[in-house]
Amino acid sequence: MKYNNSRRVFLKKSNALVIGAIASWSVISKIFASPLFSKTEMIKFEEGKFLLPVLPYTYDSLEPHIDKLTMEIHHSKHHQGYVNNLNKALETSDKSLLESPQALIKIFDNIINLPPAIRNNAGGHYNHSLFWIIMKPNGGGKPKGKLASTMDATWGSFDEFKKQFTDASLKHFGSGWVWLVVNKGKLAISATSNQDNPLMNMDSILIKGTPILALDIWEHAYYLKNQNRRAEYIASWWNVLNWEVVESLFTINVK
Ligand SMILES: [Fe+2]
Repeated sequence: MKYNNSRRVFLKKSNALVIGAIASWSVISKIFASPLFSKTEMIKFEEGKFLLPVLPYTYDSLEPHIDKLTMEIHHSKHHQGYVNNLNKALETSDKSLLESPQALIKIFDNIINLPPAIRNNAGGHYNHSLFWIIMKPNGGGKPKGKLASTMDATWGSFDEFKKQFTDASLKHFGSGWVWLVVNKGKLAISATSNQDNPLMNMDSILIKGTPILALDIWEHAYYLKNQNRRAEYIASWWNVLNWEVVESLFTINVK
């Protein structure tokens, strides 16, 4: 009961207007087709298989906020594992899912009809791909333009948004992700468990929409440097954010 009450309060604060709305797949398609994604090769797809995207920066370039070894293991072992296991799971699945990089859109839209291995690994691949490109060396600061004004209209200020996003990240039990989601021009903060994300078309995803900011709160994202100190990791992460990319993702969604 306590959980339900606190969750209700959180959802109210996070702008509950988007609850239940299904993400616009035409918008997601535009994101996949955008120069932003093709330039970063975020969702690289060749000969019916997904490939690990190349990071747009070196493993050590987010130091001292996120350390080189964590980045190397996170990208080359954990993310590679999701890519490998997704390809393996898809070998025995419907081949029509593998026609293009937009296969992920079809997968998320039909997630309730697919086996857990696809849900976990497709989520793992997409979530990490987004996570890498919303970070950069010498990042941080605040967003500008329409995203900044929409944040102000939603939360009152960037600082209040940052506080609520941080609170959601600290309160989430166990492994998962915290998101800034946009749906029909409205912003919301949400959290999902394991490798689920707001694009998945299933009832357990209470806030659906397009994620434009992603924070990985699995321990593998910070344990080597921060051990059990999730708060320390989150505080560091704000210093590597690439707000230009987040603004671009927002702009694609509200056009
Ligand atoms: Fe991760």
